[in-house]
Amino acid sequence: MAYLMENSEEDKRLDLKTGLEAVQRQAGWAGIGPGMKVLDVGCGIGKTTRALADLVGPTGSVVGIDSSDERLEIARARYGSDRIRFEKHDITKPFLSHEEFDGMWLRFILEYFREGALDLLNNVTQSLKPGGILCLADSDCNSLLHYGHSQRLQNTLQDIMNRLEQNFNFDPYAGRKLYDYLYQLEYNAIEVMMEPHHLIYGALRDSDGYNWKRKLELTAEQSGCKLEEYAETAGDDFQSRHAAFKQEFEQFFGSPRRFTYTPLIIVRGYKP
Ligand SMILES: C[S@@+](CC[C@H](N)C(=O)[O-])C[C@H]1O[C@@H](n2cnc3c(N)ncnc32)[C@H](O)[C@@H]1O
Repeated sequence: MAYLMENSEEDKRLDLKTGLEAVQRQAGWAGIGPGMKVLDVGCGIGKTTRALADLVGPTGSVVGIDSSDERLEIARARYGSDRIRFEKHDITKPFLSHEEFDGMWLRFILEYFREGALDLLNNVTQSLKPGGILCLADSDCNSLLHYGHSQRLQNTLQDIMNRLEQNFNFDPYAGRKLYDYLYQLEYNAIEVMMEPHHLIYGALRDSDGYNWKRKLELTAEQSGCKLEEYAETAGDDFQSRHAAFKQEFEQFFGSPRRFTYTPLIIVRGYKP
């Protein structure tokens, strides 16, 4: 299935949603450290790969894999070096590498695999050495946790997420499942931590405004949601309903009174 968020501005969205410091803190917590050889699975534009490379230092190395030629090209141009390599690979297929990795990092990947997450993990970890660290990070209740908006807006967000689950194998609740994935795979010494991925109140930052606007514009159109909650005010025409939904969301989100949060759940374990 095609990547749900595919579009010409996905590199910009990924850039804006990635803080090097947060990735380093989370991967450091998981045990990724100096001298390690790490695989960044679904690396996107390579910003997370770069953060991991800083963590493993001059004696370590990182390989980023992704299926998008466009994003890999950006990754190579921005971050490629003798210690940071990027390779094209479909992560639904076994990753058989001549090298063995000490650690693997998957952030915002399993949310695109509501079904098939365990198969994917079994495939990519074929090159993780026994005792190696597997770290998974995903959000929970994706796009659903707000206060200060109307009931019709909440119903619509829920409808969009339900349809993405049904029609696109997307998992808005991936975060809460990560511990169970490692448990089922019988990883050792599993630990869990949680941080806010979003904690948005007061004046809206440009990056948050851009990210959420893009995310909802794209997902509302693609999900197949009919935006029925907007029929009463906007009529039968989908574009009119979409414009009304967009306007209401932007008005709510732009207000300093709005409160929005998204938990990021991070799980790590050691391969048996
Ligand atoms: C939301 S981005 C996450 C990027 C990065 N991990 C981060 O945390 O910013 C998801 C990435 O997974 C990649 N992806 C999705 N399906 C894939 C597949 N089957 N094989 C390889 N990469 C895939 C997409 O191309 C995209 O770059």
